Amino acid sequence: PVEIKELYDNTEKYIDKEVETCGWVRSIRDSKTFGFITVNDGTFFKPIQVVYSDKLNNFSEISKTNIGAALIIKGKLVATPNAKQPFEIQAEEVIIEGESTGDYPLQKKRHSFEYLRTISHLRPRTNTFQAVFRVRSLCAYAIHKFFQEQGFVYVHTPLITGSDCEGAGEMFQVTTLNLNNVPKDEEGNTDYSKDFFSKPTNLTVSGQLNGETYAMAFKKIYTFGPTFRAENSNTTRHAAEFWMIEPEIAFADLEDDMELAEAMIKFIIKYVLENAPEEMDFFNSFVDKGLLDRLNHVVNSDFGRVTYTEAIDILKQHNDEFEYKVEWGCDLQTEHERYLTEKIFKRPVFVTDYPKEIKAFYMKLNDDGKTVAAMDCLVPGIGEIIGGSQREEKEDVLRKRMKELGLNEKDYEFYLDLRKYGTARHAGFGLGFERMIMYLTGMGNIRDVIPFPRTVNNCEL
Ligand code: 4AD
Ligand code: MG
Repeated sequence: PVEIKELYDNTEKYIDKEVETCGWVRSIRDSKTFGFITVNDGTFFKPIQVVYSDKLNNFSEISKTNIGAALIIKGKLVATPNAKQPFEIQAEEVIIEGESTGDYPLQKKRHSFEYLRTISHLRPRTNTFQAVFRVRSLCAYAIHKFFQEQGFVYVHTPLITGSDCEGAGEMFQVTTLNLNNVPKDEEGNTDYSKDFFSKPTNLTVSGQLNGETYAMAFKKIYTFGPTFRAENSNTTRHAAEFWMIEPEIAFADLEDDMELAEAMIKFIIKYVLENAPEEMDFFNSFVDKGLLDRLNHVVNSDFGRVTYTEAIDILKQHNDEFEYKVEWGCDLQTEHERYLTEKIFKRPVFVTDYPKEIKAFYMKLNDDGKTVAAMDCLVPGIGEIIGGSQREEKEDVLRKRMKELGLNEKDYEFYLDLRKYGTARHAGFGLGFERMIMYLTGMGNIRDVIPFPRTVNNCEL
């Protein structure tokens, strides 16, 4: 069968000719002697219309077909200059490959996203989720393209680790111990010598520490894989399982890091706008009016820059508008992040040089001894989309910092080795893949940009 995308791309080649195509029924209506079916095969955002008549010997069978059924259609492709769609197929044969029962949950009406989450195995057959998941796929490709074209090496970092990169203790433990009968040592602590790895392990919260080791060999690397966080935040922007892109560059500082991040975001936006025009128009019309103008503006303007200290000074003047009042030293909440990027800068903005107390152990201490060379990239509608930093390359400073935070140096010997054997300035960041998709599509809930989302209290399908 010819794919529907091919019929749209090379229409002239097929017009007035016999074609065979296939797909799933999106809608069907019939009268006594003829009927219309719209069919989508998933290769293109738009469906194709099929006209059939009682000249077909299975006419009544076709008319009984339900939405969702899988069909094979043979017939002539004819131009329909006066109709909404550019062409249709006048069916000469309609084969019912797989009937759909009458209780098919997707009917030809608008279903709420909440409802569609309960049928995440079927929602990719709707317009919205066809658009979301094609954009997700293209976005992944754009990211690889961006890094590969510049010679970055793609590193596969492990998913099971013994360390806690972010030091936030938000990890899913990995164990083969029987939870109903956990072995104890003489002191009554869990005896991990009986566990698979003979030590406590967890799903990774970030590939960064392993990524850094490869940056110290390949100069510029990136990771792109799943990460896991047992954050008990039931928000529209947090998932327990999400994908992260983590480039790491050696002989580079925070400024280089921000330039890379900005170039990457602009590249992704341009790529998706060029390669998914139908989908992006759809989002602009039905999900987030003004999306295209906003994204085009982002591509053509510089991101804002502000230090944490300056940001606090700005936000303080608006403290009456916040649920959480800000003061120097506090972590920025989503409401503050969004205020900065939506009301003050009206475009993406990098906030730099956060107090060391609210950031991870590996970030480079600034000369003031109080702040670290960190950067978060905030975008309108979402808040933080990227978190990154220049890394502490001095062994003594890093050890001191780890002691302060009570990290067990033994778990990080490999990491400390990098500071002993040819240490070099280096920096990197993590882009939340799902947040990038939300930003690209205007979708407001992270659950609606992940095929099978895992969030607090939810691990269905
Ligand atoms: O700011 P984070 O915690 O940074 C790191 O993990 C660093 N190790 C990155 C690095 O420097 N290599 O996370 C990075 C990004 C966030 O900005 C956010 O976009 C996303 O990951 N993120 C989440 N996305 C969805 N659900 C969650 N629970 C997320 N937690 C972080
Ligand atoms: Mg962060």
